[in-house]
Amino acid sequence: MNMKKGFVLLLIIIAFHARAQTIVADSPDGKIKLSVDITSSGEATYALYYKTKPVVISSSLGFELKEPAVSLRQFSLVKTDKTTYNQVWKPAWGEYSSIRDQHNQLILSLKDKSGSDMLMNVIFRVFNEGVGFRYEFPAQNKLTHFVIADESSTFHLTGDHKTFWIPGDYDTNEFTYNTTKLSEIDASSSKMSQEIHAKTFFDKNAVQTPLMMKTAEGLYINIHEAALSNYPAMNLVIDKASNTLKCHLVPDAVGNKAYLQTPAKTPWRTIIVSDKATEIIAANRMILNLNEPSKIQNTSWIKPQKMVGVWWEMHVGRSSWDYAGGQVGSQQTTRVPHGATTANVKRYIDFAVKHGIDGVLVEGWNTGWEDWFGKWKENVFDFVTPYPDYDVKELSRYAKLKGVRIIMHHETSGAVTNYERWMDTAYRFMKNHGMNSVKTGYVGRIIPRGEHHDGQWMVNHYNYVANKTSRYGIMVDMHESVRLTGMHRTYPNWLASEAARGNEFNAWSSGNPPEHETILPFTRLMGGPMDYTPGIFQIKMNVYDPNKKEQVHTTLAKQLALYITMYSPLQMAADLPENYEKHIDAFQFIKDVAVDWDDTKVLSAEPGDYLMIARKTRGKSSWFIGAITDEQARMISASLAFLDRGKTYVATLYRDADDADWEKNPHAYMIEKFLVDGATVLNLKLAPGGGTAISIMPADTNNSKGLKKYQ
Ligand code: NOJ
Ligand code: CA
Repeated sequence: MNMKKGFVLLLIIIAFHARAQTIVADSPDGKIKLSVDITSSGEATYALYYKTKPVVISSSLGFELKEPAVSLRQFSLVKTDKTTYNQVWKPAWGEYSSIRDQHNQLILSLKDKSGSDMLMNVIFRVFNEGVGFRYEFPAQNKLTHFVIADESSTFHLTGDHKTFWIPGDYDTNEFTYNTTKLSEIDASSSKMSQEIHAKTFFDKNAVQTPLMMKTAEGLYINIHEAALSNYPAMNLVIDKASNTLKCHLVPDAVGNKAYLQTPAKTPWRTIIVSDKATEIIAANRMILNLNEPSKIQNTSWIKPQKMVGVWWEMHVGRSSWDYAGGQVGSQQTTRVPHGATTANVKRYIDFAVKHGIDGVLVEGWNTGWEDWFGKWKENVFDFVTPYPDYDVKELSRYAKLKGVRIIMHHETSGAVTNYERWMDTAYRFMKNHGMNSVKTGYVGRIIPRGEHHDGQWMVNHYNYVANKTSRYGIMVDMHESVRLTGMHRTYPNWLASEAARGNEFNAWSSGNPPEHETILPFTRLMGGPMDYTPGIFQIKMNVYDPNKKEQVHTTLAKQLALYITMYSPLQMAADLPENYEKHIDAFQFIKDVAVDWDDTKVLSAEPGDYLMIARKTRGKSSWFIGAITDEQARMISASLAFLDRGKTYVATLYRDADDADWEKNPHAYMIEKFLVDGATVLNLKLAPGGGTAISIMPADTNNSKGLKKYQ
């Protein structure tokens, strides 16, 4: 080879190396396209298209590491690897009896170009519903222990989309939603930062995930994360000039984000996209698919369930958590009787037995409540010492005799070190007394002081609780935890979390506007079940105290519909037994409704406006439908074409009464029965803040006598 030829070849080699590289991957149905670019300078970016329309463009990947201080932003591509996957799996419980995980996977093996030679992989999975990507740090000599200062992932959107958001925060997610354009986000002015004890605001441009957006062209986009483990939760900070959301991880006490050791992997960042709002809700399966299979081999002891509880009476201020009668929902000063007494719990057990409810939650049974709120004290509870008026032995005997389970309550007051010291003792105590479900809670600032509810340390704690309770054969429901990311696939004993603003706020605060429940399924519930505590029949709180102005912003029928629209395998009938006795015909729906499903059909939906879902009972041929609206009255219709062909069913409609004065009487409801089949089209009239709940049972000679066809 002569000099000249050799020089040309060298130039070609250099040009080849410096050339930008583009790697693409499509969803199995071809509707979604992922494109990853490695620019000539080594920057890795990705873009996402839906039916050829750009959804996310030129968005960053990478990290800032601290210890060792390396900026992982420029890479050379070592290799790519593509695989396809298509399998069906069966969740222990859920909205579907089986779930298909079908995706195309692309792994980019990258090497740092800035001199460290560190290796990092980015794994993309492209589903028909959207994309998930995560970072992986393989075992390597160049990197073992490391501290993450910042994750550089961004989501560069194509416009100033309509956004349903709550403020970014390190400690709480118990906010009502704002609906604004991206450019109008202002987390500091946010109307709902009141009434939450432990909150840590950090940036007026920050929001939390799951973040729901809608483009001017009518495309729905949802950003969240999956399989959050040994890593902090992700907030998003918007750069308004470029419509770019940047990952902001929850820090620890010294400002670090995560402490990792190779081999290590991050949670998945998820982007779900569709031109139909109904498909977004159904795509929560993508988040489950990105989680690890169950770590629990035998799940037969894990049971979806309904509960009542010595609970709402504290929130409305009728009884107290503490023995002396001072601790109630709104922290008022008047003394009231202690709620968790042996006699009162027996009353709830009797009510549960009579109506086929599985469990009775008891809060305020144990010593410590005097100091539970706002003290930032470490040793508040020991989780095993009852108050003198609470006879644990007698109640476990009584519950067992009646065939009802008492549900344990572990309020930690945020003193997590203390809880971790007591966990084994507390779980043994539960098992010794016949209990196999626990509701945990983390009200207040976290101890270890400086840690946050949503940081790496606490994320590890919640997962530790899920794991440890599973070893004791205990199901768990966590309040004030980090929002869910599908980890209940891995720990199916983790039935639910609160991790959003629940119904309880209606008892002692400005409450939740009627649109709240039409937004949650597009946001918080994308990651998993919420213990929202529906079923409040006594809607105005002035019955408890004439001075109380609070109320649930709902109709009674809507409270029933929430059992369908707010999916959870753990559903509370949250109101007081005496309030159910007053409307026992409406309570029938709560008795009948299932808590575990074979199938789910999202029939009609628009975030912030309305939602209608039908679900088929697991292992049975009955169906239940819930339809809800925001503050607007509206008609909502749906075909029942999903019913078995040729079969007739009896539909019982629990609906808002016609033309009631909703301000004065939100309790006005009607119950109607009709014959329906697959050709039926329902036209439901929802009151402002209203809803309809429907049970659909196969018709037989007993239940269908004299009934007319629905029209
Ligand atoms: C807040 C929880 O969300 C609520 O359900 C519970 O009753 C109180 N903390 C007391 O633990
Ligand atoms: Ca709460």
